[in-house]
Amino acid sequence: MKLGFVGAGRVGATSAFTCLLNLDVDEIALVDIAEDLAVGEAMDLTHAAAGVDKYPKIVGGSDYSLLEGSDVIVVTAGLARKPGMTRLDLATKNAGIIKDVAKNIMENSPESKIIVVTNPMDVMTYIMWKETGKPRNEVFGMGNMLDSSRLKATLFSQGARNIRKAWIVGEHGDSMFILWSQADFDGDVDRSKTLEEVRFVAAEVIKRKGATIYGPAVAIYRMVNAVVSDTKEEIPTSVILQGEYGIEDVAVGVPAIIGSNGVEKVIEYELTGKELNALKNSASILKERLKELGY
Ligand code: LAC
Repeated sequence: MKLGFVGAGRVGATSAFTCLLNLDVDEIALVDIAEDLAVGEAMDLTHAAAGVDKYPKIVGGSDYSLLEGSDVIVVTAGLARKPGMTRLDLATKNAGIIKDVAKNIMENSPESKIIVVTNPMDVMTYIMWKETGKPRNEVFGMGNMLDSSRLKATLFSQGARNIRKAWIVGEHGDSMFILWSQADFDGDVDRSKTLEEVRFVAAEVIKRKGATIYGPAVAIYRMVNAVVSDTKEEIPTSVILQGEYGIEDVAVGVPAIIGSNGVEKVIEYELTGKELNALKNSASILKERLKELGY
């Protein structure tokens, strides 16, 4: 099994590290315009692997041909959010980068499933899908899985235990919302502050350490694992909707079954009126942004 990473920055490299430690990987390829960075990360990861008696082939460089034959490609390439910036502020700059990445992936590893992380992730997922021309099951985004891990941490701190399901869905951004109708955990929590805490905690981390790293890396690993291990588990995922929830032609976070075929099914829960309005609100914000970018 081969994993490709376009972007060998802190999130890309740390997600490669997390996958390396937790999965039976035969090959890892890291591609970045900063060639030395990709080569250095590949070398460092090779030593980490040997430390746990694993000897996969790990390569790095700026040449997209390194990706050839990847089962899954994780795309984190792009400018990172700076303190005070919203994910949407990055859209224009990163849209150009994603278009270039899409072209190069299709020239070198057209069969790969693509997991988009670059922000604003939902917008970049749609652009990746459009520019590659791949079927929607093969291009999807990681955002709400990370938001949901922050939700679980917040709920636990509020006294929730045995958290069986706690999803954030919608935009991976300010219009995200909690799918309370599907939440399943023991204990009572004060729901009034929960979303506020989850929505803005990423900015708090960025303010203190400059970027979010471990949270995204583990969420990426969970999605990569769902594909390569064919777990067919339910994961909140940015999916190109084609009529589900009455929404189409936009990528937005919804509960989905992820397996070896990528997005195998969008789960259409019976949402409350408030939840459906919130999902449609996210979709319209994202469509507006796509329109400004010419999509
Ligand atoms: C975050 C970035 C990955 O939410 O958007 O940390």
